Amino acid sequence: MANPTDTPAAPTRYLTGITTSGTPHLGNYVGSVRHSVRFSRQDDVQSFYFLADFHALIKVDEPARIQRSTLEIAVTWLACGLDPDKVTFYRQSDIPEIPELTWFLTCVSGKGMLNRAHAYKAQVDKNAARGEDPDADVNAGLFMYPVLMGADILMFNAHYVPVGRDQVQHIEMARDMAQHFNHLYGDHFTLPEAAIDDMVATLPGLDGRKMSKSYDNTIPLFAPKARLQKLISSIVTDSKVPGEPKETEGSAIFEIYRAFADSEETETLRRAYDDGIGWGDAKQLLFERIDREIAPMRKHYEALLADPARIELILRTGAEKARALSQPFMAELRHAVGLRNLAVRDSNDGRAKANKAARPSFKQYREADNLFYFKLLDADGKQLLQSRGFATPQEAGSAIGSLRRQPGAALAALAEQLEPVDDETMRSATAALEVLSADAASEKS
Ligand code: TRP
Repeated sequence: MANPTDTPAAPTRYLTGITTSGTPHLGNYVGSVRHSVRFSRQDDVQSFYFLADFHALIKVDEPARIQRSTLEIAVTWLACGLDPDKVTFYRQSDIPEIPELTWFLTCVSGKGMLNRAHAYKAQVDKNAARGEDPDADVNAGLFMYPVLMGADILMFNAHYVPVGRDQVQHIEMARDMAQHFNHLYGDHFTLPEAAIDDMVATLPGLDGRKMSKSYDNTIPLFAPKARLQKLISSIVTDSKVPGEPKETEGSAIFEIYRAFADSEETETLRRAYDDGIGWGDAKQLLFERIDREIAPMRKHYEALLADPARIELILRTGAEKARALSQPFMAELRHAVGLRNLAVRDSNDGRAKANKAARPSFKQYREADNLFYFKLLDADGKQLLQSRGFATPQEAGSAIGSLRRQPGAALAALAEQLEPVDDETMRSATAALEVLSADAASEKS
């Protein structure tokens, strides 16, 4: 079965990539790494973390920087506790199926959709504002960025992609590509969804704006202790003197402190602000608090960084694990589109379009509330039914099973577990379930 979401017991798959174009900073740690590492340790999820080095080539033309960044980011994840035995941790460029899939997806992506991608459009708008040629300084890699990202995601049939808000459009595009491909060639891809975590903080940088490579205001996560202290002492403040009460609102020092401290510590600092703590002392507290969390990992980081051959081995082992999935899946996809052994005929041809591709389907997923849901989609991916939350994937699976076997009886019995729909949608849903139950009957015979 190409699409593991149809199996109730399949674990939920999360996938995320990091572009290897710079050195990880405190903002990356607080906004993504810390949370992802904690999350990856849960039992019931299967996660994929990869170094998006093909993506880096779009922006960076310094080979040494790409190599260095790939090492630093890999080591950062490991030093922060990512367990490569538990997750699949790999380098994008070690998976040749990804560029191959990129081409397949290129051929099902509307050029108009790519014209609307934010990163590309921003560059075009900037050129227009300057009165330049719209495509001045735009390489085709920037234009194709969402397709490469779609291939990253669809290659491993990820259910959820944890990303920042700026990346949501890319996930929607990946979904669009998956839907279009499935419609043409049968149900091969899981439709991915963005998982946005509003709990994670965006950190202010040295100048008070969002900490970001592009503002050049970052604090490297594993800067040596003395440098960390020096950078922290350069964070902007207002000109209030010691003894004057200070505002926590809009204070970069306070915001960064809060991202590391527990609520009690944060309250203590808030009181110190009220009591007129001097900026020098506040910076010292911030330095000590960050260093307390980072120092043990920094030691680990430095040791790993000194042993690049070991990191290389870890990534190659990860690539083998990833390719155990991507190779057979790619073979299936090649067959599906007609890149085949000439001597073999597929008895499903013709039926594939008329029958398989036109089949309605169930999708199972888990929400942030930790309950398990399913949807019934028609052949075009339009939603017909939406379940309420089930406590376990088994319960959701068994509801799906009864809908497949005895649509009429199950629809009545499950009325409470389904979101209400209008009559016309219910008629479409009933028809779709009948198609599925006929399929099931013919598979048995
Ligand atoms: N575009 C992402 C970023 O700039 C990196 C990335 C590449 C990615 N491929 C991905 C993220 C697939 C999630 C899934 O941060």
